[in-house]
Parts: sequence; C-alpha cells; structure tokens
Amino acid sequence: MKILVTGGTGYIGSHTVVELQNAGHDVVVIDNLSNSNELSLQRVAEITGKKVDFYNIDIRDFNALDSLLNNHNFDCCIHFAGLKAVGESVQKPLEYYDNNVCGTVSLLRALNKHNCKNIIFSSSACVYGDPEFIPITEDCPKGKCTNPYGQTKSIIEEILKDLQKSDSNWNVVLLRYFNPIGAHQSGKIGEDPNGIPNNLMPYITQVAIGKRKELNVFGNDYDTHDGTGVRDYIHVIDLARGHVCALRAIENKCGFEVFNLGTGHGYSVLDVVHAFEKANGVKIPYVIKPRRAGDIAVCYADSKKAKEKLGWGAQFNLEDMCRDSWNWQKNNPNGYNGG
Ligand code: NAD
Ligand code: UD1
Repeated sequence: MKILVTGGTGYIGSHTVVELQNAGHDVVVIDNLSNSNELSLQRVAEITGKKVDFYNIDIRDFNALDSLLNNHNFDCCIHFAGLKAVGESVQKPLEYYDNNVCGTVSLLRALNKHNCKNIIFSSSACVYGDPEFIPITEDCPKGKCTNPYGQTKSIIEEILKDLQKSDSNWNVVLLRYFNPIGAHQSGKIGEDPNGIPNNLMPYITQVAIGKRKELNVFGNDYDTHDGTGVRDYIHVIDLARGHVCALRAIENKCGFEVFNLGTGHGYSVLDVVHAFEKANGVKIPYVIKPRRAGDIAVCYADSKKAKEKLGWGAQFNLEDMCRDSWNWQKNNPNGYNGG
C-alpha cells in the first residue's frame, strides 16, 4: 500500500516507517519538525536500505496538504502528528487544541477531498481516565482526562467516529497505546525528548548515563504490590508492528474499530528500575517523592481484541525494552543532536 505517515520523523512514527518499509509498503512522511529531527529518517534509511520521501508540512496547512495529495495517491494515512507533553498542555491549552484538534480536522478535510478515506490514528490509554476496570478492554467506558493533551485525543476520537458515521466509505482505526518504551535494536533510532524528560524510561536512561543524579519515584503509597504506580510498558517495535497489522483491518473495510496496543502485563516503577539494572548492569539511584498530580495507580490493557482481529501480539518483554532503551541512549547520549 502507499501510506501517508504524519509525524513520521518522531519517536513512534520513525519506528513505524521502518516496519512499514520492511513489510513492503511505500511510505511518504510529513512532519513540521516541531518535536523531532529529520536525521531520524536518514537513520531509518540506514536500517531499511530504502530512502524515505519526506515533506516539511504542518498538518494545519490545508493548501500544502492539498498540493501533496494532488501529486500522490495514498491508500491510507497513519496519523501520528501532534503535541504530546502533558504538563505543557496544561500551560498552553490553546496550542494543544489548535495543533492536535484543528490540525487533524485540516488533515481530514484534505484526505476527504482527495478521496483517501482510510486512517489509523494514534490515540492513548489516557482516554480511559481512571479506568472503571482492569485489565482495560476496548469496551471500558471513556473516562475523564485530567489534562488538555488527553482531551485532544478524546475529541479527535469523537471527530473520527462522527466522520465515519457520516460516510461509510471511511475506514477508521483508533489505536490506544499504553506506555511505549524501548528503541530499535540497531541503536540508530529512539526517543529523543527535549529538556527534562517527563516519562519514566527516558528519565531512567538519563540517570544511567549520568545526566541526572537520581530518579524521582512519584509516590510509593498506591494500592499496588510495592506501592508505586503500575503501567503496561510496550516495546516501540511491537507498537510499530501493530500499525502494520492494523492495515489489514483497513484493507478489510472495517468501518470504525478501536484497538488497545498493550502487552497485558502491568509493571510498577520499581519493577522497571530493577529490570533496567538487571538487564544492563547499571545502578539507578532513586528517591521517593510525593504522587504526581493526575497520575492513576494502575493501568494495563486487555490485549485480546488485537490478537483475535489483527493477529497482533507483543513479542518483546520488559528486559528487551530496558536493554534497547539503554542501547539507544548509550549510542546517542545527546539524541540526534549528537550527530
Ligand atoms: P513525537 O513528538 O516524537 O512525534 C510526533 C511528531 O509530530 C513529531 O515529529 C512532531 O514534530 C510532529 N508534529 C507535531 N505537530 C505537528 C503538526 N502540526 N504538523 C506536522 N507535524 C507535527 O511523539 P511520539 O511519542 O512519536 O507520539 C506519536 C503520536 O502518538 C502522538 O500523536 C502522541 O500523542 C501519540 N501517543 C504517544 C504516546 C507516547 O507515550 N509516546 C502514548 C500515546 C499516544
Ligand atoms: C503519561 C501521561 C499520559 C501519556 C503517557 C505517554 C501523565 C499524567 N500521563 O502517562 O497522558 O499518554 O505519559 O506519553 O503525565 N514516574 C516516576 N518518575 C518519573 C516519571 C514517571 O515515578 O520521573 C512514574 C509515574 O508516576 C507513573 C509511571 O512512572 O507511575 C509512568 O509514568 P510516565 O512514563 O510519565 O507515563 P504515564 O504517567 O503512564
């Protein structure tokens, strides 16, 4: 298939481009490079041996999308482009609503105009809020998102649902990601956060490399086996392959479908710290801090639906994720800026 990948220079997008190319798909990437580096696509080409067709386009720029779509006939769009920093979204809600929601509407108008009515969207487990039950199935009711970032994911899901309802030629797959970590085994592409990382694994790898003194563990009084928060960490390669499998649903004209992409296993913060130490032989000093606002105790997926309908399941374990995250960080101590 010929696939338009928005946000394809970013963390999950670049890994997905590798898996799409490896599966024989023809890929065009657009990105405004607001949170990424074009070098990631050079690295992708080193891995796959195939050059990636790239355009610096902001998805809010309808005219730029229109002329791109005049020149290419896409079978499907995989839509990653968006801002994703939870704390920043609380400070700058309008930027998040404009970029993520208005950007998606602009993209959908352009796709609609050019009759490319197949889309896979990067949603998040955060749409479940504090989930009504665990493990979380796709039938779990959506909950209250505690921040504008999460709201944008939930709103975009509703927009896509309404669009598909209005025109059954559209096929929409919502993929709700749990906690992606890890990196390509080559160490050539990985997560490259700006400034102080908000998420657990990039913070751990920066402690390991000596950029940060110690890990702050946000709360040890949750109702979990060791008191620290439990999440469903998933290797970014498994996640990327989930998109390739989701193309099957699109090919089968699925209408509107929602899938969790998680492993189905929950690990606590301290489980991750210990797994990282064991996998890599590096000590991670940590201190216990108060709970982080907006955090929940436990979140992990029921991943049966993706297995049954897409034939997809996670193959990598926590040790693999820790090893590959560290391999990327060690090889690229300053991310892509290190050259
Ligand atoms: P990322 O920041 O690495 O990638 C997003 C990409 O989108 C970046 O390259 C950025 O430059 C680009 N972008 C942002 N706004 C754009 C615009 N207006 N026009 C064109 N490009 C734009 O993030 P990621 O971790 O790879 O996440 C990809 C998607 O998955 C995002 O939509 C994110 O919200 C979603 N998601 C991520 C996680 C996670 O933990 N990383 C979890 C759930 C969902
Ligand atoms: C966070 C976002 C979520 C987003 C997801 C993926 C919040 C409240 N939620 O999820 O909306 O979809 O990232 O980008 O920010 N932790 C520490 N110390 C740290 C960092 C994290 O103890 O320095 C703990 C957290 O309290 C949590 C776990 O590690 O228990 C995972 O945190 P994180 O990686 O930020 O992911 P989420 O909070 O699950």
